[in-house]
Amino acid sequence: MAEKEFNPATMWDERFGRPEPVYGHEPNIYLREQSHRLDDGARVLVPADGYGRNGLWLAKQGFDVTTVDVSPVGVDRARKAAEDSRVVSKILLADLNFWQWPLGEFDAVASIYLHLPPEQRPQIHAHMITALRPRGIVILEAFTPGQLRFSSGGPKQVELLYTAGLLRRDFAATEVLELMECEVELNEGKMHSGQAAVVRAVFRKK
Ligand SMILES: C[S@@+](CC[C@H](N)C(=O)[O-])C[C@H]1O[C@@H](n2cnc3c(N)ncnc32)[C@H](O)[C@@H]1O
Repeated sequence: MAEKEFNPATMWDERFGRPEPVYGHEPNIYLREQSHRLDDGARVLVPADGYGRNGLWLAKQGFDVTTVDVSPVGVDRARKAAEDSRVVSKILLADLNFWQWPLGEFDAVASIYLHLPPEQRPQIHAHMITALRPRGIVILEAFTPGQLRFSSGGPKQVELLYTAGLLRRDFAATEVLELMECEVELNEGKMHSGQAAVVRAVFRKK
């Protein structure tokens, strides 16, 4: 029997189709904390924005936002939320592995809980750097292998989890402004709730 091809959108469509927003309505705390680094009207790319909570918040702050996600249900929901809030953002449906990444266009990339398999991750992280203008920044938060001890969310496969060392290698071409593994208390909807082990980083393109 032929093996069924893995479609990354299927799982996310199911999650984002639930009535309650699984990661809540509020933006990620680290992104919010780090947004002071952005100039007024900065152009921000939000890859894998799901149903749009981070992109929507950034757009409400007056940033010029582009989001990309592979989940049609998430993208529809993000577009509806933007329309309801009367904010303008570019909300795109695409698989980041095949998307035509812009070159040198953005002041920042916000990568929040985008957990990619090892055969995809380095290339997508490299695209994030090339999408930035010189001195543009990547703000990133993801779960570490330490998260396997907790039930507050994130992938259960260790190869999908990130460490500070792994990110240092992927972003070796940039200047590290912040890079730390830490434990935090998540309060981001039902699926990100409780004590969690994360890596947080800000990288600046040289
Ligand atoms: C854990 S969710 C995080 C969503 C959002 N960043 C947030 O914090 O609310 C991971 C997201 O990555 C997206 N994703 C996973 N693989 C992707 C790919 N290859 N291309 C685009 N989006 C992808 C999923 O559709 C999902 O929205």
